[in-house]
Amino acid sequence: MKLSHLRPRFRFTFFQRQFLSHLLLSMLILVLLAAGFTYYMKQRTFDNETEELAGVSKGIVRLLAKDGDDPTSALQAYRTLLAERRTSFILLDQAGEIAYRDPKMPGALRGKAFLDELRSHISDTKDNESFIVERGTEEPWVVVYRQTKLKPQKTELHLFVFSPLHGIQETMEALNQALIYMIVVIFVLAVAVSWLFSRSMSASILSLRRTTRQIAAGDYAARSTVRRSDELGELAGDFNSMARQLELALHKLQQFETRRRHFIMDVTHELRTPLTSIRGIIEGLKNDLVPSPEERANYYGIIEKETFRLIRLINGLLDMEKIESGLITLNKKRTPLKELFEIVHESLEVLIEEKRLHILIECEPDLQVYADYDRLMQILINLVKNSIQFTAYGTIRLTGSETETHTVIVIADTGRGMSKEELSLIWERFYKADPSRSKSNSETGLGLSIVKQLVEAHAGTIGADSTPGIGTSFMIALPKTDRAASKDGEAG
Ligand SMILES: Nc1ncnc2c1ncn2[C@@H]1O[C@H](COP(=O)(O)OP(=O)(O)OP(=O)(O)O)[C@@H](O)[C@H]1O
Ligand SMILES: [Mg+2]
Repeated sequence: MKLSHLRPRFRFTFFQRQFLSHLLLSMLILVLLAAGFTYYMKQRTFDNETEELAGVSKGIVRLLAKDGDDPTSALQAYRTLLAERRTSFILLDQAGEIAYRDPKMPGALRGKAFLDELRSHISDTKDNESFIVERGTEEPWVVVYRQTKLKPQKTELHLFVFSPLHGIQETMEALNQALIYMIVVIFVLAVAVSWLFSRSMSASILSLRRTTRQIAAGDYAARSTVRRSDELGELAGDFNSMARQLELALHKLQQFETRRRHFIMDVTHELRTPLTSIRGIIEGLKNDLVPSPEERANYYGIIEKETFRLIRLINGLLDMEKIESGLITLNKKRTPLKELFEIVHESLEVLIEEKRLHILIECEPDLQVYADYDRLMQILINLVKNSIQFTAYGTIRLTGSETETHTVIVIADTGRGMSKEELSLIWERFYKADPSRSKSNSETGLGLSIVKQLVEAHAGTIGADSTPGIGTSFMIALPKTDRAASKDGEAG
């Protein structure tokens, strides 16, 4: 069963959700405000009425307290005044029976139900306290209670003064009218404001979505144009930096692919050149095209040299692959640098003598270098061999020194030197200044790129300086400790 069948047919869009929630919220606030206001207004009217009735009850009590004549006659005079204000009163005796009733009391209140209601309040109502008595559909009545004594017998009486909560109906109607107008106005405002808010939000989201689709379709240069100061703006910022990373990664991948293709082309070329020359010589020898034994010996020599070059080439490539994929493990130890220089000198003695060159070692005997012995040897031999190779006469100087954090090795010669352009190319694989010399000198053009990778595997740096016709110097700096190396890494 497909999941899509389970989805509701109608889906709220983000905009609709936002819009509705804003609207509902403003309506809710409005209803709560209206309810609160209505309650407050009712309470105010009730309090005012209670105050007024308390005043009336005070007057009645004062009249009843007068000595002498029948107080009820005084009450009769008073009640005309009260009738105009729609106020009535009743006096109940201790037994709850009517002691005196305002003759102008409305007929609706003359029933037993009203009396019972009043009686029920006698025990739990304090003086001047009020309560509400509902009479069906009519206005509610506010009743104020008071205890009093009738002279001369000092009979205790319960006085109830009451009047309809007049004006409340009208007030409520006016209030409702005003509320309806307010609701309409606020509704229109809420619709407008929430529409604006929701639209700006959903516009940002839609724009982000468009950019996401562009990127998904392969357009890695696409960027979100959403500019906001809220979380959506931050999301757009994060999105853009993600897109930048993606673009960068793709670029690197493309570069890697191009390099890989060039590498394969270079390797094939480098392997084919010696193989072609070997095959040519073998063909010649097989068909007896070289009768003289000296010449034959010469050709065998070339075959041997080319075979060695092929072996060196393959070893070099394997070495590079190992370093590049991090497969070599460096067994770093502290070794006196001067000793290393002397071993390099000894192992290349034959080549140096052959070209009548001089080697000069300048290094304190106690200067230590922190490196993998075999790999550092490989580096030094490669560099000194190059110097021998490209120097016709003069001196090759090996210098060792130190800074606070690094051991510095300089290999300087008085050879042919290099131009700036050449100097910028020497670290590349298979680069040789003079490709035509490759056959005779059995160069692979891998030496310096292996050297550079080895130095970098030690977290060190290597640089070269050269002047055509004057000489070349290579400078290596190796960190003295692993801590110095990691600091370099962080800085870099
Ligand atoms: N000391 C130097 N003086 C002048 N040129 C140099 C020197 N060292 C290197 N080069 C130039 O840099 C090129 C690259 O050197 P690299 O050691 O990588 O390869 P190579 O010496 O040609 O081959 P291999 O080291 O495999 O025999 C050399 O062919 C040469 O042109
Ligand atoms: Mg070399």
